[in-house]
Amino acid sequence: MGKLCLVCNCPISPFMTFGRQPIANRFLDATSFEGEYYFDMDVCFCPNCSMFQLANTPDPEEMFNDSYAFYTSSSRFMANHFKEFARYVLEDVVDDKIDPFVVEIGCNDGTMLKNFKSAGIRHLGIEPSRNVASVAISQGINTRVDFFSPNLARSLVSDYGVADVILATNVICHIPDVKSVFEAVSILLADDGVFIFEEPYLKDVIDKTTYDQIYDEHTFLFSINSINYLSKLFTLELIDVLPQSTHGGSMRYVLARQGKRTVTDRVFSQLVAEVNSGLTSPHTYDKFKRNCEIKRTELLSTLKNIKSAGKSIVGYAATSKSTTITNYCSITTEYLDCIFDTTPLKIGRYSPGTHIPVRDHVHFRNYNPDYVLLFAYNHAAEIMEKERDYTLNGGHWISCIPGLEIQK
Ligand code: TYD
Ligand code: ZN
Repeated sequence: MGKLCLVCNCPISPFMTFGRQPIANRFLDATSFEGEYYFDMDVCFCPNCSMFQLANTPDPEEMFNDSYAFYTSSSRFMANHFKEFARYVLEDVVDDKIDPFVVEIGCNDGTMLKNFKSAGIRHLGIEPSRNVASVAISQGINTRVDFFSPNLARSLVSDYGVADVILATNVICHIPDVKSVFEAVSILLADDGVFIFEEPYLKDVIDKTTYDQIYDEHTFLFSINSINYLSKLFTLELIDVLPQSTHGGSMRYVLARQGKRTVTDRVFSQLVAEVNSGLTSPHTYDKFKRNCEIKRTELLSTLKNIKSAGKSIVGYAATSKSTTITNYCSITTEYLDCIFDTTPLKIGRYSPGTHIPVRDHVHFRNYNPDYVLLFAYNHAAEIMEKERDYTLNGGHWISCIPGLEIQK
């Protein structure tokens, strides 16, 4: 049966496949390799509404459950970013509001909301993964363990009243039923409220061939044009767009109810700029597919050359993104001895699909490999600072996306 666009219901078909992919964030113990869950990761671009999307998405329960291994607070840089985000919300958005109510969709371990809590702002986090939510709760963040839905929104309105600000970071693009999220927002949002979210930006992915942003959790990669289309379906209006450097290039979208706030010139100019750059044209995606194949060939040939010279290679940062790279390029322990990482839930486990052991980053310096494949280019500055000795002692870093500069 043909596929229909998750946003506009137009018939769509995949322009490429990344093959069989596992759950990107499910790090396995040695006894659970058998029966590992896989899905065919085919990707589509909708020529009608411009939404970039996965053709098949695993059941959300497979991805966001009690073994969800991502903790926002694991990056100091991201913690700072959220502090700055909270300052933007408090000073630039709700400055004149008396007793504002702030809701965060997908509050994870509360890294963002703690900034509101400490400013004495009424807040509520919604988080379906109990393990990360319990960290937020233990820090006194008002948190509800649930999926964000129209029904939940209705019950929140009766329990707390409408929200002046609804926030989300790196979460809306995770939700296949994105229309139910927008519907829920339209129920919960105050008449003059704002909905602000930021997510990896499609244009950065296309321009830099950072195809690792495509994995099970990222049902969508948003653009200004696709969000503009989606907003209108729920009588919301895109009033501002603010590019961010996080996750290798993200976009902050600011929405309000239609006609309630001034639309900045940036929105108009960036909508046009995307069209002019080809982001809304299907042929851009055929080119992207070819670029992904080129990056795969280049990376594999680099790894093969190093191994045939008898040198050692390890991975650095067992990111979700790395799952797409290792599985698409078939990078196993044939190339990487292990992947060093800071996350307690991942250490001692094995990477999804390719079963590379994950080791505690504290052993990295002693291990002293000849080469390191950096998977977390988005945390390069923080990691380079931490591992300066390795670099000064002649260690080599390899970018997982060939040609993408590692910011030292
Ligand atoms: P991130 O790019 O945020 O993750 P994802 O692709 O999963 O969205 O990277 C988080 C991962 O990187 C996490 O597994 C911890 C690891 N990491 C380190 O190992 N060392 C570090 O210094 C940093 C910042 C992250
Ligand atoms: Zn569509």
